[in-house]
Formats: sequence, structure tokens, C-alpha cells
Amino acid sequence: MSASQAAAPAHGAATARPVLASAGPGFVEFAEVEKSYDGRTFAVTRMNLSVARGEFLTLLGPSGSGKTTTLNMLAGFERPTHGTITLEGQPVDRLPPYQRNIGMVFQNYALFPHMTVEENVGFPLSVRQVSKADIAARVGRVLDMVRLKQFGDRRPAQLSGGQQQRVALARALVFQPSLVLMDEPLGALDKKLREHMQLEIKQIHTMLGVTIVYVTHDQSEALTMSDRVAVFNQGGIAQLGSPDDLYNTPQSSFVASFIGENNTLEGVVDRVSGEQCRVQLNGGGEIAALAVGVTQGSPCHVAVRPERLNLSAAADGGNALAATVDGRIYLGDHLRLLARLANDQVLTVKLGPEATMANGETVTVSCAPNDCRAFPADAGTGGAIPKQGKTT
Ligand SMILES: Nc1ncnc2c1ncn2[C@@H]1O[C@H](COP(=O)(O)OP(=O)(O)OP(=O)(O)O)[C@@H](O)[C@H]1O
Ligand SMILES: [Mg+2]
Repeated sequence: MSASQAAAPAHGAATARPVLASAGPGFVEFAEVEKSYDGRTFAVTRMNLSVARGEFLTLLGPSGSGKTTTLNMLAGFERPTHGTITLEGQPVDRLPPYQRNIGMVFQNYALFPHMTVEENVGFPLSVRQVSKADIAARVGRVLDMVRLKQFGDRRPAQLSGGQQQRVALARALVFQPSLVLMDEPLGALDKKLREHMQLEIKQIHTMLGVTIVYVTHDQSEALTMSDRVAVFNQGGIAQLGSPDDLYNTPQSSFVASFIGENNTLEGVVDRVSGEQCRVQLNGGGEIAALAVGVTQGSPCHVAVRPERLNLSAAADGGNALAATVDGRIYLGDHLRLLARLANDQVLTVKLGPEATMANGETVTVSCAPNDCRAFPADAGTGGAIPKQGKTT
């Protein structure tokens, strides 16, 4: 069973950890923000979040974890039930969306079908009563930036999905907002186009220095594009950090499984000494790991990345697990070996393409204790959480 399927919650476990310790007020600040739509459950709970000016921050998490609700509160489409949001030091609670000077891009481009590309992009300027000459100049510049200048006369229906999304992006940028919010903007595009648009958005971010808060549930998109990623779980931030932090030092089983590929071994903590612990694996065997918040005698999940496992002899004090080769997946630049342990759990081991082990062969899977992280057996994942179950 993987961590994300783990049985249910002492809810709130994933949200109880401290989030960003900020040195001063950020460009955007959420302070103890909560949102309940129905008075019984929280869609967002105890949200403390600080976004720096010019930052590309991504909200990443499973469906129903509160990403859109968070973005909508920042945009002004939803009001927090509790707590305060400030933008450039000013509370925005009473400001309607159009006075927040925020550009928005959604998954479904929401372009006006009866307007041309130029009219769509110029719309935010005409509602702000910018002169016709200024509108023409600014629309021209921004269409140039998204490489759509030659499509100005077309209507949205005459464009491809990627082109429509670039129009939506141009319309969000044309009034030079200091903050742009994007909610799964590339979700409707195929993989190749999505990857291309990721680069374009990143380039525009670098070129304009605009602050972007971006929502996705695609972890590779989050890792490629962001300065920092807030990993959402059950209406709260499970961990906030750079892509590198999240990948190499996840603080929970949930984050370890959600970011990148991971093997999860279930067991019980036998003893903790200093930074390390020994874990008795369910079904037999034991392993030494870094202790990340675990206590002696408690159930835990040990996470280890496929590229941190190998089949060479274990170093002194290293972990060694007997296994049988259960499958080989050749991927050109590397080989993924499936290794079945005595307890029947299958580990994925990432090896060089030259590795020769055959199916059925007996091997020893080894890894350094510092590459294994033992977490308390995790709370589940999901959406809104019951108010009465809320921990403090
Ligand atoms: N307008 C609404 N009324 C009532 N409940 C809502 C409303 N919008 C969202 N919710 C609930 O709030 C929780 C968080 O939803 P939200 O849309 O913020 O999740 P999300 O992380 O954006 O998910 P997805 O990845 O599916 O878009 C969910 O349980 C959802 O059912
Ligand atoms: Mg959403």
C-alpha cells in the first residue's frame, strides 16, 4: 500500500506542521486564513503563506485539497471565513476582484467567442478606459510577446488550444498587473504543447519579473517552473520549499510520495538513536533510516528513491535486503529493475542501462541509511475536512 492510499486520518496531521517562517511581510500574505463553504467542513484551514515579490510560487496537491479555493480568496472571488490576506501590506478583504489589479488565467480559457484576439486582449484595458491608441500599442506588444501578432483578427474558435491559451495569457498580462494567478492553465493541452507552454510562461515570468501564483496537480510541471512549491493536503500546506528541498528532504510520507518517484516500506520503529532509527519491516527484515518525527514503537513509512537503491554490496552500516528480480524495464538511458522482497513487496531500483540481472535472479538491494527517511504512518489525502475533527 502506498502512502497516498494509507488509511484514514487522524485528520489535520498533515496540516499541523509549521509552514513558512517569513522574515517580514511578503508581497502576498495569508495569515491564519480559513475557508468553510458549508459551516461544517474546511476547504482551507490554518493557511499561513508568504509570497515574495517576483516569485513563481506553485500550489501543488491532489484534487479537492484547497488549491483553487486559496487562489479564489486571493483573487477576491471568495471571502475567507477567518483570517486576513494582504497584498503589498494592505488587507484586501474588502476589495472587489477588479480593484486588486490581479491578472487571472484559468484552465478553460474563458475568451469572449464573439471578439477577435485583439479585442479579447484589449478588453481589460477598455474597461479601465485606456485610450484607443494606447490599447492598440499595448495589445500589439503583448501579442508579440506571446508570438500571436499575426492572429490579431481571428476569433478564438479559429485558433488551436495552445494559441487560445496564449491569448488568455496575453489578456492577463496586458494591464501590467503586479500579480498573476493561474489555475491549471495548461490542463487542457496535450503533453508536448503543455511542455512548450511551461517554457513560454517561465520565460515571460523572467522577462517581466511579475509575481506568479500557479496551481497545478502535475508535480513535474511544479518542479520545472517554480521557485518554491507549496504542497497542499486536506486544505493545508503539508510542506513549502524549493523543488530541491521537497525532493531531497520531504518532511512527511505524503510529500515523499507526491513529489517524484518513491518506494515506501511499512514497518514499526524499533529504536531511535540520534538522527537515525531502526525499523522492523512488516512481513520481515529490518532497515536503518533517518528518523523524521518518528517515535519508538510507532508505525512508520520508510521512503527511498529508486535512484538511491543499488545492487552492489552494502557499505559498512548500510542496509541490505534480499530480493528476487521480478521484472526489467529498459528505458534507453537507464533500466528499472523490479525487486521482490521476502515480504512480497516490490521495490523499483533505477540502474544504468548496462545492468544484466535476469528475471528470477537472487540479488541484494542495498542503500545508505541517510537515503532512507522514516516518517510517522501518514494521514490520508483528500479534500474538505470536518470542523469538529480539527486539531489545534
Ligand atoms: N463553491 C463551493 N461550494 C462548496 N464546496 C466547495 C466549493 N468549491 C470547492 N468546494 C470544496 O472545497 C474543497 C476544496 O476544493 P478546491 O476546488 O479548492 O480544490 P482543488 O485543490 O482546487 O481541487 P482540483 O485539483 O480538483 O481543482 C473540496 O472539498 C470542494 O468540494
Ligand atoms: Mg482546482
